[in-house]
Amino acid sequence: MSNRRFLIAGNWKMNGLRADAKSLGEGVAQKIPPSVQSQVDVLVCPPFVVLETVERALQQSNIMLGAQTCHTAEKGAHTGDISAAMLKDAGCSHVIVGHSERRTDHGETDGDIQAQAIAAHDQDLIAIVCVGETEAERDAGRAFEVVREQILGSVPLKANGANTVIAYEPVWAIGTGKVATPEDVQAMHSDIRNTLADKLGQDEADKIRILYGGSMKPENAPDLLALEDVDGGLIGGAALKAEDFCKIAESCPSVS
Ligand code: PGA
Repeated sequence: MSNRRFLIAGNWKMNGLRADAKSLGEGVAQKIPPSVQSQVDVLVCPPFVVLETVERALQQSNIMLGAQTCHTAEKGAHTGDISAAMLKDAGCSHVIVGHSERRTDHGETDGDIQAQAIAAHDQDLIAIVCVGETEAERDAGRAFEVVREQILGSVPLKANGANTVIAYEPVWAIGTGKVATPEDVQAMHSDIRNTLADKLGQDEADKIRILYGGSMKPENAPDLLALEDVDGGLIGGAALKAEDFCKIAESCPSVS
């Protein structure tokens, strides 16, 4: 086991009205025991409009708050967008950037995502940079090449273990119930670490946490989290059930 601290992050996506967000936030805060919260970093990333509701629900816990994207500019004429400064002000410590749903739904490029990560760093937010190949790319034998290109293009040069987390999420595994095999996950995570080393140096690459995402559930989490280069999970569907999310956090090898 490395000395990187595990991070279990819930990506709530576009789910939950205020009452749901309140009960899910409270549920997560109550179900994850303080002993687990002290041995694992736990984060939830709700939709923008319920950040305040969830912040209140988490007040008595160590669970951190994050958002699902941010704009590259600090402020200005960008109707409908939210800046990293606003997220910081709303109590966030983290922001996800470059999720495949943003890349697809909003045409975000590696360059956009790198600029978002830099905007997050400028506000002392931790950027969770998402990468991952599609099924067609994997079938064509291009998974490593695609992910390498995404890492080189979307991770800022000033990324380090304190300000950046990578989430490897094979697009074909997101919300589908299909999970990459532990062998494939370890091979990709190790390749990502090598690419980070080429870009940032081995010292930083060894400190940056690499999360797996894509249909992570209580049943498959123990095997995935036990892999050498897996430092946590980015969890969608299972993060909407406090009990499942808690079980995943409890299955981190660092929990005694
Ligand atoms: P999933 O989503 O756990 O529902 O597959 C993961 C994600 O998209 O972050």
